[in-house]
Amino acid sequence: MRISKLIRAIVLFMTLVTQAQTFNKSGTFEAGEKTFLLNGKPFLVRAGELHFPRIPREYWEHRIQMCKAMGMNTICIYLFWNFHEQQPDQFDFTGQKDVAEFVRLVQKNGMYCIVRPGPYACAEWDMGGLPWWLLKKNDLQVRTANDSYFMERSAKYLKEVGKQLAPYQIQNGGNIIMVQVENEYGVFGNDVNYMSKVRDAVRSSGFDTVQLFRCDWSSNFFKYDVEGVYTALNFGAGSNIEKQFEKYQEIYPKAPLMCSEYWTGWFDYWGRAHETRSISSFIGSLKDMLDRNISFSLYMAHGGTSFGQWGGANAPPFGSMVASYDYNAPINEAGQPTDKFYAVRDLMKNYLNPGETIPEPPANYPVIAIPKITFNKSASLFENLPKASNAIDIKPMEFFDQGWGRILYRTKLPESKSAFKLKITDLHDWALIYVNGKLVGNLDRRKDENTIEMPAVKKGDVLDILVEANGRVNYGKTIIDRKGITERVEILAGTVTANLKNWEVFNFPVDHDFQKKMKFKKEKINGPGWYHATFNLNVVGDSYIDMSTWGKGMVWINGYNIGRYWKIGPQQTLFMPGCWLKKGKNEVIILDLEVPKESQISGVTIPVLDKIVIDESLLHRKKGETLDLSAEIPSNEGALSSGQGWKEVIFEKELQGQYFCFEALDSQNLKDQSSSIAELELIGTDGVSINRSKWKIVYADSEEVSVGNYSAEKIFDQQESTFWSTAWTVSKTPHPHHVVVNMEDNVKIKGFRYLPRTDKSTNGNVKSYRFYIKPDLFVIKK
Ligand code: GLA
Ligand code: CA
Repeated sequence: MRISKLIRAIVLFMTLVTQAQTFNKSGTFEAGEKTFLLNGKPFLVRAGELHFPRIPREYWEHRIQMCKAMGMNTICIYLFWNFHEQQPDQFDFTGQKDVAEFVRLVQKNGMYCIVRPGPYACAEWDMGGLPWWLLKKNDLQVRTANDSYFMERSAKYLKEVGKQLAPYQIQNGGNIIMVQVENEYGVFGNDVNYMSKVRDAVRSSGFDTVQLFRCDWSSNFFKYDVEGVYTALNFGAGSNIEKQFEKYQEIYPKAPLMCSEYWTGWFDYWGRAHETRSISSFIGSLKDMLDRNISFSLYMAHGGTSFGQWGGANAPPFGSMVASYDYNAPINEAGQPTDKFYAVRDLMKNYLNPGETIPEPPANYPVIAIPKITFNKSASLFENLPKASNAIDIKPMEFFDQGWGRILYRTKLPESKSAFKLKITDLHDWALIYVNGKLVGNLDRRKDENTIEMPAVKKGDVLDILVEANGRVNYGKTIIDRKGITERVEILAGTVTANLKNWEVFNFPVDHDFQKKMKFKKEKINGPGWYHATFNLNVVGDSYIDMSTWGKGMVWINGYNIGRYWKIGPQQTLFMPGCWLKKGKNEVIILDLEVPKESQISGVTIPVLDKIVIDESLLHRKKGETLDLSAEIPSNEGALSSGQGWKEVIFEKELQGQYFCFEALDSQNLKDQSSSIAELELIGTDGVSINRSKWKIVYADSEEVSVGNYSAEKIFDQQESTFWSTAWTVSKTPHPHHVVVNMEDNVKIKGFRYLPRTDKSTNGNVKSYRFYIKPDLFVIKK
């Protein structure tokens, strides 16, 4: 007994000594020939990605230890610029934002660190990590050296990151082995000069000795190169590893191989089916990488939560992120191990270095149920209007110095003796429209809704447009995404158009201080407003707040904004960390823009992340519709080759039109009746793919949306890992399959590019096709 204790003490002491040795003296890490070199010796990076803003600080070390218990030797992190500089020049690296402390905890646990400071990060985080206040500059451009303001501000931010983290470069005795420059620039732009400038800014912010890297995709990494910066590739569960690195090895024959984001699962949008990635597909490609000695980082090892207003959005089509960033990752949102976790851990046991062992996972934090809490105090939004500002022309919220939340635009209407239409350009992102305090209806950007039918009105009737901003676009070309109403509001009455002016504007920011000032009363409210309650707890623990009886809004508990909810799902419960609850009295405030079915909540012990209210209006074929091509002549037809990677077709002559139809006649496997497309691009006459940011799906004969997210707009969402698939569960239909796109512009093209799905399955890969393009819409029979 005593001896074993003594042995344990010695072992513990020795481990501490070795850890101290690993880190206290300066070391080296570099991309050597065909392998990474740590202190001159071959090293395989086995990283797990964690985002410290998505994990309560109290739980940081637990999640780090979980990664270690999964067999990881490194933690990879992003920094989000907008988290640290919420107002220009007001930098904050304390408390929940104390990244240096996070890195020290990683070091304390004997692990290395990879740092990805941006300035652009993506990550389904508001504006990809860029601060909203940049948008106050009217002609802002981002991620390009053409905008000197953007360049200046990002360099300034990087300097501050350097002050925090440069001391922890491995060369200085710290644990930071690599630092990333920007993020997947290949999908966004071609300003190579910009990437070199960001590299220089990272270097001059103090990361002067550490190995730098960039990440891109196997389909685009070769479009540019940044001197002195190692290149890694990103791809998802189920990828074909051989294929992913094929071109890479031609271009960088001597470089070590690394997947710097191996997607363990995927993120969820409001109103879209919950995403999962199977353990078998995920483990299969991971094992393949280990067998080939390929370094990797699991994105995400543990996703956590996009608390507050931090979730981002993707577009087109616009879809904002749910609050949970569970990601179907090996470690779930509450930090617990899942089956995927144990599958990784078991796999890793076969690939350890001599003498290396994997520690046991730390204990889970307790999870509690919270009994029903009823709200008996509420405050109507319209009775609690803050001080207004005035504006002749309508403007987005950034121009009223508001970053997030809701905004109310009010003006007086001219007389209209008959019903008319009201058109909003552009609505970002969801609005309730009122006349004289009476609700007329609502508009939703996800559905491209921008026009509403209005009743006849008298001169001077009051128009209210209450707009809720969801996450800012964090990915792709539409990242400049100002919120509220961006340009104008018009009355369309017959041939007359009038642009409404003279607005009163009310701002509802997301800060807790703002919400708590409302005048709560006992009377029930019947429209947008706040709800207040207190509740007592004898024990605290993590819990999931069940929001399923509520409409759309946000929740603050004990001053912590735990995120957005929306009845359409798929997320129905919000993660509430136990470390933010108190024994004794707790306070909860909810802001709901609709009217809850029941104003009550409870805490449950199992999250509900996959209960979606299927919205037929988001499908691209209404009941009874069929496309009729009988009068059409194909503009081009042929057969695509089998296998992965982009397939390019150049037409014999140039074609022109605003609408096109892609018709799949069969699949590579002739028995397979399904069709799938990961991406479809049209090639302009200059050889460059035409801009797809305004594209809309007009028709798709079939879409699989119940077991996963395979709707037709996946063909232009710029994500190679997502794809359109015809139904494979209910009501399968045989070939031919069709997708019709409205491009909004009349374009001239000389060909197209088709990308088959990029996972290992080849189901639905198109063989024979016909392509139609014309200036007007195809016939769709109703
Ligand atoms: C890309 C980005 C990440 C994240 C993932 C999807 O790889 O680099 O920031 O957005 O996609 O989760
Ligand atoms: Ca896609």
